[in-house]
Amino acid sequence: MERPARLYGLWALLFCAGGGGLAAPAETQPPVTNLSVSVENLCTVTWTWNPPEGASPNCSLWYLSHFGNKQDKKITPETHRSEEVPLNERICLQVGSQCSTNESEKPSILVEKCISPPEGDPESAVTELQCVWHNLRYMKCTWLPGRNTSPDTNYTLYYWHSSLGQILQCENIYREDQHIACSFALTKVKDSNFDSSVQIMVKDNAGKIRPAFSIVPSSSHVKPDPPHIKSLSFQNGDLYVQWKNPQNFYSRCLSYQVEVNNTQAKTHDIFYVEEAKCQNSEFEGNLEGMICFMVPGVLPDTLNTVRIRVKTNKLCYEDDKLWSNWSQAMSIGQKANPTFYITTLLIIPVIVAAAIIVLLLYLKRLKIIIFPPIPDPGKIFKEMFGDQNDDTLHWKKYDIYEKQTKEETDSVVLIESLKKASQ
Ligand SMILES: *[C@@H]1O[C@H](CO)[C@@H](O)[C@H](O)[C@H]1NC(C)=O
Ligand SMILES: *[C@@H]1O[C@H](CO)[C@@H](O)[C@H](O)[C@H]1NC(C)=O
Ligand SMILES: *[C@@H]1O[C@H](CO)[C@@H](O)[C@H](O)[C@H]1NC(C)=O
Ligand SMILES: *[C@@H]1O[C@H](CO)[C@@H](O)[C@H](O)[C@H]1NC(C)=O
Ligand SMILES: *[C@@H]1O[C@H](CO)[C@@H](O)[C@H](O)[C@H]1NC(C)=O
Ligand SMILES: *[C@@H]1O[C@H](CO)[C@@H](O)[C@H](O)[C@H]1NC(C)=O
Repeated sequence: MERPARLYGLWALLFCAGGGGLAAPAETQPPVTNLSVSVENLCTVTWTWNPPEGASPNCSLWYLSHFGNKQDKKITPETHRSEEVPLNERICLQVGSQCSTNESEKPSILVEKCISPPEGDPESAVTELQCVWHNLRYMKCTWLPGRNTSPDTNYTLYYWHSSLGQILQCENIYREDQHIACSFALTKVKDSNFDSSVQIMVKDNAGKIRPAFSIVPSSSHVKPDPPHIKSLSFQNGDLYVQWKNPQNFYSRCLSYQVEVNNTQAKTHDIFYVEEAKCQNSEFEGNLEGMICFMVPGVLPDTLNTVRIRVKTNKLCYEDDKLWSNWSQAMSIGQKANPTFYITTLLIIPVIVAAAIIVLLLYLKRLKIIIFPPIPDPGKIFKEMFGDQNDDTLHWKKYDIYEKQTKEETDSVVLIESLKKASQ
C-alpha cells in the first residue's frame, strides 16, 4: 500500500521538475512520504503519512491536504486526516508540506493517494439510498434495487455511528411500493451531545451486488413529529393558538406554519412563524414545550379551523427541508347550524311555490278587472262555420238534384216544343 504512493510522489516530483513546476526549489519543502489510506467502520477513511525527508531544520512543518478537485482544503500540523466519505466512487487525497499556515505559501509537491469503491458492477448497486431521521427517535432508510439485479435479491443494511462502538445490522427490511425500506432505533434526547454522522451501507446476502454507502449528518434529514394543538381562544379580537411541540426538540430549534381556514369566507391563510411567542400575559410562564402564537385578522363569529406543522431550523440544524405532518385540526367560532340549513332548504321552495300560486291568482283577478270577459271570436266563428260545413254535402246533393231536374225539365220542354213543331 505504501509503495504506489511513494512511486507517485517520485513520479510527480520528476514530472513537476521537468515541467517547470518548481519555480523556486530552494524555498519549497520536499514532499511527504509513505502516504497510505485505510477504512474503518463503514466509511471512515483515514490517510496517514510521514514527514518529508530532508526538510529544512528552521521549518515548523504544516501539511496541506485537499481532495482531487481541490475541495475541502485543510492545513494542519498532524500527519493524518480522517473523513467520512461514502465509498460509492473513487476518492483521492493530495498532501503537501509547507512551513506555515499561510495559504498563499507554495507547498511542496503534492502526493496523491486514492481509495476505490468496493469491487462489483456499479449498475448492481442500489440507488436512491435515502434516510430520514424521524423525530430524532428512529431512522428510516429507503432505496431502489439497482438495474442489474435479480428480483429476489435479499438486501441487508448496516449502520454505524460513534456511540455504537460496532457495526449493527438493520433487522426489519420491508417493501414499500417500489422502494425497499428498513428502520432502526436512533435516539437523540435533548441535551445529549450526540453529534456523530450515521454511516449506512446496503448490500446483499449473497455478495452479488456492489455495496452502496450513505452518510447522514446528525443535524440533517430530521423530520419532527407533528405538534399537538392544546387550545384556541379569542382575546380582544385576536385568535390565540397554543400547542405542544414534539418531544426531543427545543422550541428555538423549530420553525412553524399555522394554517387557518375560514369555512364561511372560504379563506385559507398560512402564517410562517419563526419565533412563536404571545405578548399576552396570560400565556407567559408557559410550560416547557408549550408554544403560543397570535393570529391576526381572524373573524371571531365564523368557523375557523387551525392546523400547525413544524420543521427544524437553521439555528440548530443543517437542513430545514422536511416538514412534519400537519397536526390534528382544531376549530373555533360559530359552527353553521345544520338543522337551520335543512329547514332553509325545505322552506324556501315551499315559500316560492306559495308565492307563485298567490301571484297567479292575483294576476287572474287583475285580468278580470282590467279586461272584462269579451266573446271569444274564435268560438263564434267555429259555431258558424262548423254547422255550415256539416251541411255542405246536403247542399251539393241538392244542387245536383236541382240541376238534373232542371235539365230533365229542359229536355221535356224541348221534346214538347219539337212535338209542337212537327205537328
Ligand atoms: C516509510 O516507510 C518505510 C517502511 O515502512 C520506512 O522504512 C521509512 O522510514 C518510512 N519513511 C519515513 C520518511 O518515515
Ligand atoms: C535557520 O535559522 C538560523 C537562525 O535563526 C540561521 O542562522 C540559519 O541560517 C537558518 N538556516 C536555514 C537553512 O535557513
Ligand atoms: C502570506 O504570504 C504572503 C506572500 O507570500 C504575504 O503577503 C502575506 O502577508 C502572508 N500572510 C500571512 C497571514 O502571513
Ligand atoms: C433470498 O432468500 C430466499 C429465502 O431465504 C431464498 O429463497 C432466495 O434464493 C434468496 N435470494 C438470493 C438471490 O439469494
Ligand atoms: C405522516 O403522514 C403519513 C401519511 O399520511 C403517515 O403514513 C405517517 O404515519 C404520518 N407520520 C406521523 C409521524 O404521524
Ligand atoms: C384548508 O384549506 C386548504 C385549501 O383549500 C386545504 O388544502 C386544507 O386541507 C384545508 N385544511 C383543513 C384542515 O381542512
